[in-house]
Amino acid sequence: MRAYCRPFLLFWFVLLTSCFVLAQQNSTDIDGKIETLLKQMTLEEKAGQLTQFAGKTPESLKAIREGKVGSLLGVLGAENANEAQRAAVENSRLKIPLILGFDVIHGYRTVFPVPIASTGSFDLPLLEQAERVSAKEATASGVKWVFAPMVDIARDPRWGRIVEGTGEDPYLGARVAAAKVRGFQGKSMADRDSVVASAKHYVAYGAAEGGRDYNTVDISEQLLREVYLPPFKGAVDAGVGTVMSAFQDLNGVPGVANHHTLTDILRNEWNFKGFVVSDWGAVHELIAHGFALNDADATAKALLAGVDMDMVDNAYQHIPELVRSGRLQESVVDEAVRRVLRIKFQAGLFDHPYADASREKTDILTPENLQVARKLAQESIVLLQNKSDLLPLETTKTVAVIGPLADDKASQLGPWAGDGQAKDAVTPLEGIVRKLGNDHVLYAKGVDIPPYEGGQAAGVAAPAPPSATGARGIANAGKAASIDDAVAAAKKADVVVLFLGELAGMSGEASSRSSLDFPGDQLKLANAVIEAGKPTVLVVESGRPLDIRWATYHAQAILQAWFPGVQAGNAIADLLFGDASPSGRLAISWPRSTGSIPVYYNHRNTGRPTAPDRWKTGYLDLPSTALFPFGFGLTYSNFSYGRLSVKTPQISQDGTLEVSAEVENTGKREATEVVQLYVHDRVGLTSRPVRELKGFERLTLRPGEHRSVDFTVKASDLGSYDPQMRWVVNPGTYDVWVAPDSASGVQGEFEVK
Ligand code: NOJ
Repeated sequence: MRAYCRPFLLFWFVLLTSCFVLAQQNSTDIDGKIETLLKQMTLEEKAGQLTQFAGKTPESLKAIREGKVGSLLGVLGAENANEAQRAAVENSRLKIPLILGFDVIHGYRTVFPVPIASTGSFDLPLLEQAERVSAKEATASGVKWVFAPMVDIARDPRWGRIVEGTGEDPYLGARVAAAKVRGFQGKSMADRDSVVASAKHYVAYGAAEGGRDYNTVDISEQLLREVYLPPFKGAVDAGVGTVMSAFQDLNGVPGVANHHTLTDILRNEWNFKGFVVSDWGAVHELIAHGFALNDADATAKALLAGVDMDMVDNAYQHIPELVRSGRLQESVVDEAVRRVLRIKFQAGLFDHPYADASREKTDILTPENLQVARKLAQESIVLLQNKSDLLPLETTKTVAVIGPLADDKASQLGPWAGDGQAKDAVTPLEGIVRKLGNDHVLYAKGVDIPPYEGGQAAGVAAPAPPSATGARGIANAGKAASIDDAVAAAKKADVVVLFLGELAGMSGEASSRSSLDFPGDQLKLANAVIEAGKPTVLVVESGRPLDIRWATYHAQAILQAWFPGVQAGNAIADLLFGDASPSGRLAISWPRSTGSIPVYYNHRNTGRPTAPDRWKTGYLDLPSTALFPFGFGLTYSNFSYGRLSVKTPQISQDGTLEVSAEVENTGKREATEVVQLYVHDRVGLTSRPVRELKGFERLTLRPGEHRSVDFTVKASDLGSYDPQMRWVVNPGTYDVWVAPDSASGVQGEFEVK
């Protein structure tokens, strides 16, 4: 080694060693403080630390002062948060601060696209940045703990909560989960603008039978481990502070009392050190599940399984009696209390319990935050079809903006919009008018979307009234919806942009649907408008893929916008008129119809793999492939994939696969392609999925530009679970693709020795 390198290396050695020693010391300090506190706590105070109440009410404030509450949910605003915190820090016996939690699923006040959409950006740094913004805004408002990221894999879009999750792929889900945890928690959870994250809903909630929310799940251990667990592992490896257990039962054992998932896997296999919170009322619901006799029984079962904090049902008030009667060992309670206190220390709550109210004015809904929301919305919207390059539109044309979602502010935000407010949202109509001016825009709502009323759908919100701002000066603004007006507008225009889909309240929690149709008379409207014969762009706003087979024939262009958030209208207009180029991809396979559910790309082959002839897996009346595959999305350019080169045709089980391919922009515009890497293990100890995503890269190329895209994958990441649930890397031949989506690409092969 050259002599001048030595001092440099020494410097790094000393620095790293001191960091390590400091970290050790810090955790020893925290452990010491926790033990000191534990010794002073009564059983009632211990139960209190494990209890979360909803809202700041006279009752909850009293309970906090009595040491019976460790956390509140849904207290927004620095002043409110500080009042609740004062009750704990100044008026309770042990002065242990509260941890205040809230659902910040896709933004706090600056609402980002719904997660099913933003996952499709495949843009991990931007997703991380968006959660940094969410953390900054949430903490400015006194929230120190977010019930996010929601990382449930789902294959059934009838399930309303598919909108909140990361789609169908475990690898993408794990990478997105990690990016979001990094964004929320920042460099340290103790930073004033960082929050504690909570990966939810642990686990397999998205596999609900029939897509009915909260429903039973019965799946194999292999499916659990290979598909549903990886996003949670991604979150845990990224240091997530807390995990929320799921409502539903898994193979007969409710999520909140599942020792196998909560303790065997989460704690013992993954070494998770944070705490687990139940979902809302789920401990009490063990009685309805037929898994507990009463709240005391439910409390013992949940605690023993590994749930540390009880959300809102106050079942854990039974802890003292359970310990005194000998049903529960105090050491189990102590361990749960330690975990909760450790997160409170790590989050800096003992040093800085109060929110800095001045930040509410400076940190929320800032132009910088809105810019991140606009960019993420641009990258989340998926161009599904663009016949004859209709898009981008010319700004000189007259555009008929038609449809019930074109000027609906509330629906732009999506179903779980934090503290988002409809008035902040830019509607598509407003965004288009900002680009073109009033004179080039004709607006007609066409029809209303009727909300589901009563019964199962009682919670669906009414459609928002037409917004005055965007529609001002435009024909038909504020008028009752009429298909005739819509047809008249279409006839007068050069091009029609049709905004159809679902109201925000038609997906999300307790908002499953039995069908993927367009609710109400929207198809009647679409038919009438298409009859007018003008080039038509369909923009779908929805929380799930809808049945759009009709549109692939009758609309020239289709944009799947999902619910794009507070900057919806600006982002949609940016894409429509070419100020931004689409780059979003589908995070789920797009079913052809409700009857083809489930359709997911990483399915196994049968002995009779899907093919057009009769004696193969499939239906008589419909292809069983997706209408659009996972990973699919067009750009305003074209890309060609060539020269796949497998640099490591043979790898050992501890080796690394290296693959590259040439990708070229063969079109006329600069565009961003999401280049994806898939593998397939030809022969395994269990039959393997036809493809599995193992890498991706966003790549921006100018027209004519080409680049070699390189991927490396550790052989150990190519493994799977054998029938005894051991992770094995099967020797043999594997296929590999570098591809624009899960159903195409350039192919090669390699051997694992
Ligand atoms: C119930 C939902 O399932 C969960 O996602 C949410 O975090 C809690 N309620 C708290 O609002």
